[in-house]
Amino acid sequence: MPHRFSLLTLAVLVIAIFFVNLLLLAPNMLAHAADKPGQAADQKPPYTVVNGKVDLATFNGYRRYGESCLRCHGPDGAGSSYAPDLTESLKHMTPDQFNEVVVNGRKNVSTSSNNVMPAFGMTEDVVNYLPDIYGYLKARADGALGRGRPKRIDGDD
Ligand code: HEC
Repeated sequence: MPHRFSLLTLAVLVIAIFFVNLLLLAPNMLAHAADKPGQAADQKPPYTVVNGKVDLATFNGYRRYGESCLRCHGPDGAGSSYAPDLTESLKHMTPDQFNEVVVNGRKNVSTSSNNVMPAFGMTEDVVNYLPDIYGYLKARADGALGRGRPKRIDGDD
């Protein structure tokens, strides 16, 4: 009788460990599967810079940034004492994460600061051009574009 009991205990233990592993590993596997699409090394960047000049979309991103974001995030996305350096943020943020923050805003309620990122979900000049703004800032984050007003590939300026 004691012998059978220990075998049963062992079987229960093995099954329990199997399920615990499954619970621990499943979220990891899901996260990796979700990561994959954004990580393709040969993916086209979300901007066009040729010899320091930009395409229309990237230039539009620069303009929209200047109108709506510069007053807090500083010239060229480089950050200020009030708002973070977006050329750093966009080294890690996906377009989805970027859109989420810009559309919904964010409030930092840490002990050291109480700075607010406004929600732009209702601002047409911003929500209609999120990919352009992301593209411009991503070009800055990647070091593909320097500071200041960019020249346009097809432009007169
Ligand atoms: C009124 C000032 C203000 C304006 C205007 C503003 N931001 Fe922000 N933004 C902030 C602050 C402050 C934070 C940090 C909030 C926090 O820490 O939770 C922030 C955070 C962000 C972040 C997250 C950065 C990170 O590292 O997590 C992004 C992306 C961002 N802003 C993009 C924009 C864009 C794009 C615009 C223009 C459309 C814009 N912001 C306009 C103040 C502003």
